[in-house]
Amino acid sequence: MPDRSPLSRSEYRHVVSRFATGVSVVSTILDGRRHGLTVNSFTSLSLDPLLAMFACEHDAALHQPLIGAGAWAVSILAADQQSTSAYFATRERTGTGPDQFDGWASRPGPVTGAPLLDGSLAWLEFRTWATYDGGDHTIVVGEVVSMQAGADGPPLLYFRSDYRA
Ligand SMILES: Cc1cc2nc3c(=O)[nH]c(=O)nc-3n(C[C@H](O)[C@H](O)[C@H](O)COP(=O)(O)O)c2cc1C
Repeated sequence: MPDRSPLSRSEYRHVVSRFATGVSVVSTILDGRRHGLTVNSFTSLSLDPLLAMFACEHDAALHQPLIGAGAWAVSILAADQQSTSAYFATRERTGTGPDQFDGWASRPGPVTGAPLLDGSLAWLEFRTWATYDGGDHTIVVGEVVSMQAGADGPPLLYFRSDYRA
């Protein structure tokens, strides 16, 4: 093995940011309070059973209610939902009001009650199937309990640390 200097986090971010992804908001409801988090780690996993997964940072405000509720939903964002993505990625949203979805048009998921954001490209609901250690994130695998396609429009994309349509 050649001698290497320690790999840096900033270089890692710079390199992996070249992988283009979609953007989703993961949501849950616990004790009547709705929580949401912008993620680009959501991905489909298995057809038998129907599974998908995402990674949730340990420090994220969503982490504890997500684990407590054992159920969650995903709203897959459309190109015109950039401000929605920005809001659910700011730390300020957790300190301003009693409920993170106040002011955002949504409906409760039919199975879990987790909020589904209006105007999204698709919605899925999950029961947590397994969780795994993922360093400073928890890898959360969910079994699909409901799903629905929304409008046919362009997706919101994330590439090189910026939104793209
Ligand atoms: C496009 C985008 C994708 C993100 N993807 C993830 C993700 O997959 N998992 C995660 O834990 N955080 C992700 N984040 C970061 C969280 O949205 C952000 O850390 C959030 O503000 C956490 O704040 P909180 O502690 O108030 O919940 C992403 C942020 C952006 C803008």
